[in-house]
Parts: sequence; structure tokens; C-alpha cells
Amino acid sequence: MNKVSLAEGINWVGVVDWNIRDFHGYVTRRGSSYNAYLIQDEKTALVDTVKHTFSSELLRNICELVDPAKIDYIIVNHVEMDHSSSLPIVAKYAKNATIIASQRGKDAIIEHYGADFNIQTVKTGDTLKLGKRTLTFVEAPMLHWPDSMFTYIVEDKILMPNDAFGQHLASVQRFDDEVDEHVLMEEATTYYANILMPLAPLITRKIQEVVQMGIPIEMIAPSHGIIWRSDPSKIIKAYADWSANASKNKVVIVFDTMWGSTDKMARSIAEGVANQGVDVKVLKLRAANRTEAMTEILDAKAVAVGSPTLNNGMFPTISSFLAYATGLKPKGKLWSFFGSYGWGGGAVKNMTEMAQKAGFQINDQSIEVKYIPESEDLKKCFEFGQQIAAKIKA
Ligand code: FEO
Repeated sequence: MNKVSLAEGINWVGVVDWNIRDFHGYVTRRGSSYNAYLIQDEKTALVDTVKHTFSSELLRNICELVDPAKIDYIIVNHVEMDHSSSLPIVAKYAKNATIIASQRGKDAIIEHYGADFNIQTVKTGDTLKLGKRTLTFVEAPMLHWPDSMFTYIVEDKILMPNDAFGQHLASVQRFDDEVDEHVLMEEATTYYANILMPLAPLITRKIQEVVQMGIPIEMIAPSHGIIWRSDPSKIIKAYADWSANASKNKVVIVFDTMWGSTDKMARSIAEGVANQGVDVKVLKLRAANRTEAMTEILDAKAVAVGSPTLNNGMFPTISSFLAYATGLKPKGKLWSFFGSYGWGGGAVKNMTEMAQKAGFQINDQSIEVKYIPESEDLKKCFEFGQQIAAKIKA
């Protein structure tokens, strides 16, 4: 392993997962990493482990720096298995280590891996002295699991917030000043939109809490992707904006098509939106994916979803997308529906009902076309796009 030092005695010992493309439904087009950190002071602490398929690599990385038997603490910030499933094997080698977790982290460790661990629980404000260094813990329940917590290294001003501020981005580089800034922010945005979006109110409160604790942060070392060291306030500000639902005059059109009719409608609606000076993005599912769609939706004021009718209902890609979007609970968007059909419709009705059930704000107008849209139909689609744009501008 090439040594990656965050500060003297603090090293990255994680692994890069170059080829993961499906992270429980999130399309991770640039792979990911599982970051673990080793802090060597008078006492030695390992912060988080990695996905179990990479446990040997993690152990090899640790062994290059220390005999695992000399690890005093394993900090488990979060028990989701991408970070904890190497814990049982690591704990076997780190046989003298005490595991540090929140109370709910302890419960979750036992429920995942059994009770055969020496676990010490911590709560917000608790500290652990390693020698010259002090760790402070901040519980972060539901960010994004009940057990989640952050570890803060006081003397180095490094925050290790596990999933928060991460990105699914595989890279040989480890720091923000070493990678393409645009790619980094694109992946940070995608990560927020597809994992953290439903937790916006909690994120706003947690940021305020950390600010009120008055802890200076010079580096943020998350559990996925790149470490923020050049200007951590940049990603904190982005999270504050996203969680405040900052959006712009932009419409995202998400659709699928069977024989091209809904495609033609989508294009005319997009023309109508653009005609009003409003930004528009058009994504055909099966060409684009739901992860990209949710990323575009994050800062949009409106979403228009189009589907042909198949077997009296919506297209499977569209129902899958709406189920995904429902779980992520995007706030403050205007949702519109359109589609084509042959004899009996059904797609627009089904989509509208699903969105109503999700509590989305729904445009009281929709548009449906039988078989193939004629010029007159496309004109109506254009006007429908104009109407959506006018509503969000108002
Ligand atoms: Fe990266 Fe919630 O696990």
C-alpha cells in the first residue's frame, strides 16, 4: 500500500472498490472506496473497517503500520456492512482491542455479528484519550442509520463523519486537491441526492449542532471517496444548501418510451419549458438511470414524468423510478405527468396516484396522446411545457 498520511500518525488504511457499479440500487458509475483510518499514538485506534470482501486487504494495510494485536480501539462509527462487515475478522487479529460505538451501534453490532465483542459505548461529548491525541464523539442518529456517529480528532481538527460528506468515487488519489474538482462535486452531489436527500432536516440540525459546539474543522475524512482538506467548508456549505432545498428554475423530464410517442412528447414539452427561459434536462430511462435522474432533480423546481401505457399501467422503468423517488422524498418540487396510449390509457392515472400517495405536489394538468402525436398534439405538449415553466417562475 502507498502510505496515505492525513497527519503525523494518522493514515488511511482503506480499500478502493474500482468496479462496484450497483450500490444497493444506486448506480456507482465511478466505483467507490471504503475508508478506514489508523491513528497511532500511545494508544492505537482503527476508525471503521471495510466491506468483508476486502478484509484481507485492510489487514495487509494495517500490518504495514502496526501489528493488529497492538490495536487498542476499533471505532465503529456506523454498522452498515460496507463499513463493519470486516469487524469480526479484524477483531480476531486485534484481539486486545475494545470496540467503541454508540449504544445503538453496540446493539446493531450484536444483532449483526453476535455478542462476542468487548464493546464500550459512547455518547455525544464523550472523549477518549489516545496519548497526545483526544477523540471526541458526536452521535448522529439517522444520518443515516440509528447507530451513526462522528469521530473528531481534537488536536488535528479532523472530523471522521463516516457516510456524511462522502462520495462514491474510486481513485488512487485520496485528497480533494489531488482530483478533478468538477468530478468530485458531481459525485458528492449524486451521493447526497441518492442517499441523504430524505434526511435534509436532520442534516440541517446536525450542521447547526456541530457549528454550535465550536469545533474547528480543518479536514473531513469520510468513509467513502475523497478526503476534504483544502477547504472543508465547501462541502459543509453545499450540504447546508442542499438540505435547505435550494433549487433553481429547472425542469427535469424523466420518461420512457415504447414506440417513440412518449419520446416525441417529452421533446416538445422540453421545447416549451426552454421557450420560457427555464433550464430543462431530459432523461430517458434505460439510457439514463434513476441515480442520474435523482441527481438532476436535487436542484430542480419541477419534474415531469412520462410513460406509455403498458398492460393498463405505467412502464416498469417508470414505476421503479417513482418508487425510488418516493423513498428519497424530494421536497418542494412540482410533479407533472404525461404519456401515450393505444386503446385504454392508465399510465398517467397510475403515476398520478403513486405521486399523490407519496405526498408530492402535483400539477393539476396532465397530457395524454392516443397512439402517435400529431402536430396538434405536439403543440399541446409544447404549451404544457410552457405552463410548467410559468408555474415554477411564479
Ligand atoms: Fe457507507 Fe451507510 O454505509
